[in-house]
Amino acid sequence: YDRINVAIDGPAGAGKSTVARLVARKLSYIYVDTGAMYRAITWYMLREGIPPEDELQVNRIVRDMIIELIPEEDVQKVLINGEDVTPHIRSLQVSGQVSQYSKLEEVRDRLSHLQRQMALRKGVVMDGRDIGTTVLPDAEVKIFMTASVEERALRRYKELKDTETVTLEQLEHDIAARDRLDEGREISPLRRAEDAILLDTTFMDINQAVEAIVSHCRSYV
Ligand code: C5P
Repeated sequence: YDRINVAIDGPAGAGKSTVARLVARKLSYIYVDTGAMYRAITWYMLREGIPPEDELQVNRIVRDMIIELIPEEDVQKVLINGEDVTPHIRSLQVSGQVSQYSKLEEVRDRLSHLQRQMALRKGVVMDGRDIGTTVLPDAEVKIFMTASVEERALRRYKELKDTETVTLEQLEHDIAARDRLDEGREISPLRRAEDAILLDTTFMDINQAVEAIVSHCRSYV
């Protein structure tokens, strides 16, 4: 079989990363979580005390930083200048700020370039917001994964409730706000590519979503 690239986009909390990771495992492909890269930059900037409004400083730092993705068995590690930032990037603080940094041109240029390089040899399952539209417009399979905002908040709540003090209502509000920012930004906003298959997972479990995507990939190759 020839290897293909699979682009999975969609709003926050639709289950993209869980599903994409399992799809990659089934196909023996490499999984690339692009959200983790935007989160890693966000965490780094917050720690350095550089607000997103200070675009000049953000640009300068982003240009010089070394970003590495290390695929491991279950998690994918993100290193910035050699430092493993993975344990910090899922916090509510990072989730609340990431859209402010991810709308910046230099940030997007730098990360899209890295992402394209990772997909050059095909055999990649990549999830994010702009993979089908901007990063890999030639991906053989494109999926746009959604679920109702209530269902997405509930899934996030189950993930976070043991480590963060947060209510379901707050998560629903946060997720809707992040979607609005990601959809409304100027550069490569969250949008379904015209040739992407719409997969609404509101009433699907993980395995059903994985199977739907894998069978689509198999019918392609
Ligand atoms: O997928 P995840 O929720 O981890 O993504 C975090 C944030 O990173 C998104 O809300 C979005 O602002 C940004 N992002 C992006 N483009 C991508 C992936 C993520 O702008 N391809």
